Amino acid sequence: MEGISKILVSEDEIKEICARLGRQISEDYRDKKLFLVSVLKGAVVFMADLMRNITCDCEIDFMAVSSYSGTKTTGVVKFRKDLDINPEGCDILLVEDILDSGITLSYLKNMLLQRNAASIKVCAFLDKPANRQADISADYVGKVIPDEFVVGYGLDYEEKYRNLPFVGVLSPEVYADKQERS
Ligand code: IMP
Ligand code: MG
Repeated sequence: MEGISKILVSEDEIKEICARLGRQISEDYRDKKLFLVSVLKGAVVFMADLMRNITCDCEIDFMAVSSYSGTKTTGVVKFRKDLDINPEGCDILLVEDILDSGITLSYLKNMLLQRNAASIKVCAFLDKPANRQADISADYVGKVIPDEFVVGYGLDYEEKYRNLPFVGVLSPEVYADKQERS
């Protein structure tokens, strides 16, 4: 695949991860009021797979934020879409594609806490701990990865590559070219 230097999480591994996380979450939330809240757009693919591996009752909702420009976080979270539900009294599980600097998730977690959610946990498909800036960790992690820019399985570079069925490392030439041009 053009622009991808290697496959980091294969389709088979993705299936195993979703099955494992789904089992764990179904057990932990058996007697709770589970609301899966996914962060658009990157997490939609993971959300769709994860929710089909969850066997307890749950509802879903979506939020949209952005903090990225190219391959770098701007550190400023832009809020683009709020929840439709009122999170008060709900057991919220934030479903994210990747936990990187942690700025996005700590912003969302604090915001939901202020709105009196009963509990808030985080499920991240990928975790890049090397780049953490905010004091946050995921309660459920699909896979810990090294500090490389990855795409596919919902993750994008400038809105491209989201449709790849696996997670791959983006060749640095792809964004080096771009930086030269701009
Ligand atoms: P954070 O706020 O730095 O933790 O970044 C969270 C968001 O940044 C994720 O939801 C992704 O959309 C994006 N992001 C972080 N790392 C990557 C990456 O390696 N590839 C694509 N998007 C990324
Ligand atoms: Mg994103």
